[in-house]
Amino acid sequence: MTFPSMIFFGLFLFGFKVLGQEEASPKDRLIVESLIRLNRFDVSENEKWKASVLRYVRSLRSQEEYFDLVEQFSIVEEVPELVRLVEKDATTAEASQAVKLIFHFGEHKKLSKLLFSASKENASSIITLIGFVKTPESRKLLESFEAMNEPALFDSNNAPARLFTSEDIELLSARNGNVKKGRVVFQKFCFSCHKAGNLGMDFGPGLSEIGDKLPKSELILSIVKPNAGISFDYEGWTVETKEGDILSGIVSEADEDLIVRMVGGLSQRIKKADITKQTKMEISLMPEGLHLAMSEMDLVDLIEFLSNLRK
Ligand code: HEC
Repeated sequence: MTFPSMIFFGLFLFGFKVLGQEEASPKDRLIVESLIRLNRFDVSENEKWKASVLRYVRSLRSQEEYFDLVEQFSIVEEVPELVRLVEKDATTAEASQAVKLIFHFGEHKKLSKLLFSASKENASSIITLIGFVKTPESRKLLESFEAMNEPALFDSNNAPARLFTSEDIELLSARNGNVKKGRVVFQKFCFSCHKAGNLGMDFGPGLSEIGDKLPKSELILSIVKPNAGISFDYEGWTVETKEGDILSGIVSEADEDLIVRMVGGLSQRIKKADITKQTKMEISLMPEGLHLAMSEMDLVDLIEFLSNLRK
């Protein structure tokens, strides 16, 4: 590195530190806590409060509360930071929260830009995260990505899985894949929600005998269109509590409590008496667009693996 560029780099780091990690004072914290207690989340009219909120929230960047506060106080100033989190590593829980907030702020154009410029691997993780959002905007983004999918994003001899018509699905289900490779695809995309033999986690329906239940074409359909037929007992519910928490997942009852199982294996017990609202989700808890993140060959291998899961 040349000397002038070292100075520049040093200044850059210094500037970044001052701007990005500005210290929050105890007074900032006090102000934010009071605002929360008073339910005053609109601070746009008060520059002093706004600055305190911003400093305080920025000081929490690597912590869990950060995302809640950004949402509550509608801190659009943090959108660049959210985009940066997704760009850095889209496989993290933080990136997943960041993607949701970016949609919440209506800034999804930034994501589509990122998606089209991201590395092959990060693009497929970003697509998975967008699949979790499930708003009209997120669907549009997935569709436009599907329509414009640059094969170059994937291995050049492995075209991405694009399925538009039922003939496409018939053609694909007539192909033979490699069970071993399909298992690897399963571990990448499905593992976090499904059990197949001794692989995977128990969130969605178990797939250990799915080959007996569904023919290849329906296996493909259940991945491409998870909302078309939602399995009984695995519908998603959104539950709101007196404290204002909102949880969504698969719900079961146990005496006085309701148990909400969430993606990722977390589950939470809530007293039924503390529930203020409980609504059934119209869409599947299984993300849409998973097939867009894999190549056509990956999908064929995955289907081969699934249809070999039998008694
Ligand atoms: C975020 C969790 C999640 C992920 C990731 C996920 N699924 Fe699902 N899946 C579900 C849930 C929940 C259901 C049940 C609701 C429904 O039918 O839509 C389901 C249903 C299914 C079904 C129908 C099962 C039946 O008995 O009818 C199949 C098949 C399936 N998933 C396959 C897959 C495959 C293959 C992958 C990976 C490419 C995958 N899923 C990824 C959550 C997930």
